[in-house]
Amino acid sequence: MSKETFNSTRFNKSKNKPFEEVLDANLSRRNVLKGGLGISAMTAFGAFGLSGCNSSSPNASVGNGSGASSAVLNFDSIPGSLTDAVSVPQGYVAQVLVPWGTPLNAQGSSWKDDGSNTSTDQLNALGMHHDGMHFFPLDDSDTDGLLCINHEYIDTSALHPSGPTIVGGVRTIVDEVRKEINAHGVSVVRIQLEDNMWTLVDNDPLNRRYTGATVMDLSGPVANTELTVTRFSQDGSQARGTLNNCGNGFTPWGTYLTCEENWPGYFVNTGIRTEEQNRIGIDDQNTRYLWETLAGNAEERLDEFTRFDVEPTGTSSIDDYRNEANGHGYIVEIDPYTQNSRAKKRTALGRFRHEGCTFGKLEEGQPVVFYSGHDSRFEYLYKFESTANWDPADANPSNRLTAGDKYMDEGTLYVARFNEDSTGTWLPLTLESTTVSGGTLADNFNSLAEIILNTAGAADLVGATPMDRPEWCTVDPYTGSVYLTLTNNTSRTDETNAANPRLNNKFGHVIRWDESEAASDFTWDIFVFGSPANGDADTNRSSLTDMNQFASPDGLAFDPRGILWIQTDNGADEVTSYTNDQMLAVVPSKLTDENGTQEVVGADNQAELKRFFVGPNGCEVTGFTISPDYKSLFVNIQHPGNWPYSTDAAEETPSGVSVRPRASTVVIRREDGGEIAV
Ligand code: FEO
Ligand code: CA
Ligand code: CA
Ligand code: CA
Repeated sequence: MSKETFNSTRFNKSKNKPFEEVLDANLSRRNVLKGGLGISAMTAFGAFGLSGCNSSSPNASVGNGSGASSAVLNFDSIPGSLTDAVSVPQGYVAQVLVPWGTPLNAQGSSWKDDGSNTSTDQLNALGMHHDGMHFFPLDDSDTDGLLCINHEYIDTSALHPSGPTIVGGVRTIVDEVRKEINAHGVSVVRIQLEDNMWTLVDNDPLNRRYTGATVMDLSGPVANTELTVTRFSQDGSQARGTLNNCGNGFTPWGTYLTCEENWPGYFVNTGIRTEEQNRIGIDDQNTRYLWETLAGNAEERLDEFTRFDVEPTGTSSIDDYRNEANGHGYIVEIDPYTQNSRAKKRTALGRFRHEGCTFGKLEEGQPVVFYSGHDSRFEYLYKFESTANWDPADANPSNRLTAGDKYMDEGTLYVARFNEDSTGTWLPLTLESTTVSGGTLADNFNSLAEIILNTAGAADLVGATPMDRPEWCTVDPYTGSVYLTLTNNTSRTDETNAANPRLNNKFGHVIRWDESEAASDFTWDIFVFGSPANGDADTNRSSLTDMNQFASPDGLAFDPRGILWIQTDNGADEVTSYTNDQMLAVVPSKLTDENGTQEVVGADNQAELKRFFVGPNGCEVTGFTISPDYKSLFVNIQHPGNWPYSTDAAEETPSGVSVRPRASTVVIRREDGGEIAV
């Protein structure tokens, strides 16, 4: 979630404390050989899922098995910035693309800067608060493709002419609330590059919206069970809408994954909450935007507002919406290439506040794995391992969602325990799993579906390691190492563990691990610690300077060249006083010692971590994708304060001028048309 809407409640009351503080300054520098893992060409292809699905294969030039990228960052780290404009290195330009409200088709009214667009306009336009995204090339093109964009949440003051209408604590205007629901979800838009400008292809048949109300299929263990029966879906096979779509992922078979993060805030149970509702944080007073307060309105259709109140009111689940929230909290799969295809919620990957979803090293004949972090204080990191083994023919399936059924509906969900000796253990979440108290999960749950419904509660029982807010995950295409951002945790006041070693962790860190031969084992270290440049030695453990100081890492992505991009969503004054949120770049596989062992960021190599981009005032920088030719890099600017002023993202809003802020994609290109960053 964003710092804007972050709920600081500690929902994990389990007090899991696997290890007392044992970290000394050297613990993060493990002596495990990380280079030379002999990653195969297939792995590098698979790691980015571009080997099929109508796409070109930008990875053809990588995956040479050397274990180290050849990329050299050929730009100067830029200073911090505190303006209503984006900053890019010299020789680069930045364009605003598809801001909130951009119509998808000729039927849609154009965006109005007074907030007066209707809910129907919004249904046919880009949603608000862009977040994770991915570019899917059409016909192997570098300049024509589909951009899928998450819309995490809304700024109701910007969405409406003068904010939301609330009278006596309740919403009174139906179209206002419908507009808010329609501003959530995902956009799929076709975009093309012409004359050095990317534009949306108006009225393309593949342009479409998935909103907070769109009907979606449930699949996997929770689908078609009593747990998902509602008055709307009496067989428990469907759910309406996807909400709070934060990080994203994509699959080796060419689909988009959108992650439901802070969805509990959209539901309320003013009666007696279930154990699971308490654990995940469904409130007992009201919801974030009060949509449920329009329940029973004369204009209400198909219980569109009633469903957000999950207190049982009927005699059974078929009569009410007690199970409505059980259709939320998942990884949702979308086939961008197929018109009118329905989204599928993949329940096997767990139900929690999913930040992102990233598939790991792909090997023929081996399971496909996905990683996903639960972004809340003291929550956990999860891995899903498919039952089916990877068949490279599935990179180009005749039906992409059928490939999803094969690899995402059946498998084992694990949660991570980070041991103090730099090893780690994946703990399975099945009925047979042993709990820390000596029983099994079968003592607490009747089915796998019940375990998934309360994934975090099951993870408490098996002894997972509470982390400092797991955000995005990404895989190094050269080494296979997996990286995860832990954005911050200022509530960590008396209980560190080796993987989260700082009390009052205001600035966050990036952890990484390598899988071992056994599915249950891994080794890990901490790649970099966020810090202000003037932090003391315990704070500035990675020796950052003004030119790369950062805090609260959040978005995280390797591009296929082995460049790691780190984005921030920071609220710590020590760094916000120097710079707005930003994006940095580094090539981790090249940070090695004389023996080829991978190193972490420290005094000797910190200059290799370079600031590439700074966003405008008030924003967070999030979402990453790059064109197959590496000449167009896309990032999202979420919740800017007073921007954009024009289509030139680097044009500052003049002093004294106020614009209605619009989350936007920013496309960064080189003036000379060359590859980005190298
Ligand atoms: Fe939506 Fe965890 O950031
Ligand atoms: Ca985020
Ligand atoms: Ca965040
Ligand atoms: Ca966010």
